Amino acid sequence: MADQSTVQRMERSHYSPPWANTSIIGVAGSSGSGKTSLALAIIKQMSLPWVVILSMDSFYRPLTPDQIAAAHRNEYDFDSPDAIDFDVLVERLKDIKEGKKAEIPVYSFEKHSRLDKTTTIYSPHVLILEGIFALHDPRVLDLLDLRIFCEADADLCLSRRLVRDIKERGRDIEGCIKQWFGFVKPNFHKFVEPQRNVADIIVPRGIENKVAIDMVADRIHKTLDLKSEEHRAELKRLGKETKDL
Ligand code: CTP
Repeated sequence: MADQSTVQRMERSHYSPPWANTSIIGVAGSSGSGKTSLALAIIKQMSLPWVVILSMDSFYRPLTPDQIAAAHRNEYDFDSPDAIDFDVLVERLKDIKEGKKAEIPVYSFEKHSRLDKTTTIYSPHVLILEGIFALHDPRVLDLLDLRIFCEADADLCLSRRLVRDIKERGRDIEGCIKQWFGFVKPNFHKFVEPQRNVADIIVPRGIENKVAIDMVADRIHKTLDLKSEEHRAELKRLGKETKDL
């Protein structure tokens, strides 16, 4: 039997589609481990229409002018959880989960700050949250349907990061190396690696790991099927018409 709050919620909305309960998948792992590529490979394998990747980079806290100057000297720690605005992230994830649209900040790695614009996410079927701390905050963990840790060799992570930061994020090689040994590597061991303990799946070798990608896509399909069934049953219990769903 549906509880009172569920009944009230469902009666308020004319029709609550199955994707009002967006499935959220968290993908954590070292910087340069291939989280984004893994998320894209999962999406390709799932071939579902409404899937969105949300990068946690969008939730880096705004910095003061002094902090921005330190960041340009590669002396600001972006690899501590304190650098992320988890309160805003949790708010946005809750909105998305409930089928509401969410405004997402746009981040510039060149300026080390949020831009004056946002992008909008409209209740997708599946949202993949990727970032070094995707499995860090207990409030985020509570909202996740599946928790993935993407594993890669540290040398590979460093080399990927060097190429990317120099090509795409306006950085120089000395600065990248200073940041890696000053913050990225020590904080990986302190904060990022422990997230393996709360992961449902640890994926070694990222997008090369076709078996893991198949398994994840399959699991997401099953979760969505189950949610659709539960939703239909709920509507039926409430006496709503379900033949068009
Ligand atoms: N970072 C930075 N400058 C900023 C903000 C973040 O250099 N102004 C760095 C942090 O040091 C952190 C990294 O960005 O380690 C997080 O992004 P990363 O995980 O490397 O990129 P993704 O594309 O999300 O992940 P992947 O490389 O695994 O695909």
